[in-house]
Amino acid sequence: MKRFFITTPIYYVTDVPHLGHAYTTVVADALARYHRLRGHKTWFLTGTDEHGQKIARMAEERGLAPKPYADKITEAYRAAWRALEIETDDFIRTTDSAHGKPGQDPWDTHEKNGDIYLGNYEGWYCVACEQFYTEKELDAGQSCPVHKKPVEKIKEQSYYFRLSKYQQPLLDYYTQHPEFILPANRRNEVRAFVERGLEDLSVSRTTFTWGVPVPDAPGHVIYVWIDALSNYYSATRRAALAGAWDPDVEIVHLIGKEISRFHAVYWPAMLMAAGIRLPTTVYAHGWWTVDGEKMSKTAGNVVDPLKLSSDIGVDAFRYFVLREVPLGADGDFSHEALITRYNAELANDLGNLLNRTLGMAHKYCAGKVPAHASRELEAGAIESLAALEKAMEELQPSRGLEALWQLVRNANAYIDQAAPWKQSPERQAEILWNVLEACRILSHAVSPFLPERMEAMRTQLGLAEAPAWPTWRTGKGFEVPTGTPLFPRIDDDRKKELLAKWAPKRAEAAAPVSDGAGQISYEDFQKLDLRVGKIIAAQAVPKAKKLLQLTVDIGTGQRQVVAGIAETYGPETIIGKTVIFLANLKPATIRGVLSEGMILAAGEEQVVALSGLDRDAAPGTKVR
Ligand code: MSP
Repeated sequence: MKRFFITTPIYYVTDVPHLGHAYTTVVADALARYHRLRGHKTWFLTGTDEHGQKIARMAEERGLAPKPYADKITEAYRAAWRALEIETDDFIRTTDSAHGKPGQDPWDTHEKNGDIYLGNYEGWYCVACEQFYTEKELDAGQSCPVHKKPVEKIKEQSYYFRLSKYQQPLLDYYTQHPEFILPANRRNEVRAFVERGLEDLSVSRTTFTWGVPVPDAPGHVIYVWIDALSNYYSATRRAALAGAWDPDVEIVHLIGKEISRFHAVYWPAMLMAAGIRLPTTVYAHGWWTVDGEKMSKTAGNVVDPLKLSSDIGVDAFRYFVLREVPLGADGDFSHEALITRYNAELANDLGNLLNRTLGMAHKYCAGKVPAHASRELEAGAIESLAALEKAMEELQPSRGLEALWQLVRNANAYIDQAAPWKQSPERQAEILWNVLEACRILSHAVSPFLPERMEAMRTQLGLAEAPAWPTWRTGKGFEVPTGTPLFPRIDDDRKKELLAKWAPKRAEAAAPVSDGAGQISYEDFQKLDLRVGKIIAAQAVPKAKKLLQLTVDIGTGQRQVVAGIAETYGPETIIGKTVIFLANLKPATIRGVLSEGMILAAGEEQVVALSGLDRDAAPGTKVR
């Protein structure tokens, strides 16, 4: 049996969770639930990172000792995960007694092997990052490149880990295991960092006490990142996760891109040094901004997932974050986009499919639709399930949902074409049976993403089945109760109300899109020669980390273009994609490469998604 172990970062107990923390945890939950649905032995771990100088100072500012302060925030995390339907197998706190001791194990082995030695550290430290910086990594004025605030100079006795010894073994490992760091652009960054040379890492601190004591070294506490990373392994010593670090388990660390270095350099080196197997994959996802801006307390734009969920439904929130961005790319959160997707894909596509089907089942069959051996939507269902499987194996829940919505759309189109309202009672029952069976399959297959609403859907279908991997099942009829809409439509008045409540400042500032100024005429628009283009080759542009050089087939020939999409798409992921191409843009030379046209993509400073077409169209076809 396949065994799958997924983790999220353990979050700092600095404040209650926001959109970013909820995102990682919801994605991990959907992946874990998917594996459980497949019958795989699955473990899902999350938790909190409670030691270190940052937390000690925060507690002090609030007049609390660190532990009671951490208890409070940890409780808020647990409550948030319960509310967001996160089903974990264990929740680890670095202050748990079970972590403190086994967490030192890699350390003990390192000491035995001579990979730990005592020295003196003199250098820079950013408490907000809990990270050491070299002089050349800092911004002007000795400030942290992430937080833009002055870093602190520290000078203290410290234990060191012989990280330098693992430079070549790490590089070899990345080459032999390309799946170790995903997506590929993150792998390239990490590799480049390691190739620049690794210095030994300072792994203990002596100027404060809030941490795990170094064994037999009074005054030293373990550096908070070493303590934190060890959680993944130490948690598997507990009963709930027993077996999760065995050699044949697929272990996935899902993290945000900003902590790739810790997970893909320090952590594997620590494990190598202790002779412990490495995780299968470190998957670094992108960052959410809000209305194009970095989320921060000072900007006042921190998105509270619980507030949104209580207004629009937990599963609506889950759906949006899972569907909106391909895992790995950065995303921009907008409350408007949340409502738009809700209305289009949940209320209209899926909700309406169930609603109209149940309505007809009552109208034509008095709620009882007898068993059939018909298979009219089976091929579509099989195709969607296969695409879901592939997407989830590649850690792409957004594509998984897309695959399932193909079946939703198929079923809606099937109703329109089969037109039960025009048919004999026998045929009506057969059509409805086919749609009900497709709905049953969806209520199972969509459940990893929207667990609560899919349970409601099964109830509305008259089913009392626990979620399981579905197959087309002939020979069973349906007896359906009357139900209420799964996703009631949000009308314009309600939308205004919600936007005013969620983002009051934005709602006031938002200008209508078409107020005359800045409008163009249809003739202006016609000047754009937009065509279907197919990307047939792609490569990086040397020394330009945002740029890719693409060859695009536009029917009448091929065009070479330079596109600023490399932060979102690696060359290998983009070949074969069909996009909308602007063919009459004046050629330009960008970084020495000729660019003859432009591919259209969504996003401002950073591309979020490429333009595409919802079905195949030949390269060169005019877009208007
Ligand atoms: N405690 C460390 C992790 C230790 S893991 C051994 C830490 N904690 S954190 O509280 O700062 O959480 C960081 C993580 O939260 C990111 O890696 C990401 O998973 C999530 N996010 C926080 N803000 C985010 C966004 N704006 N967008 C997406 N996810 C981000 O780092």
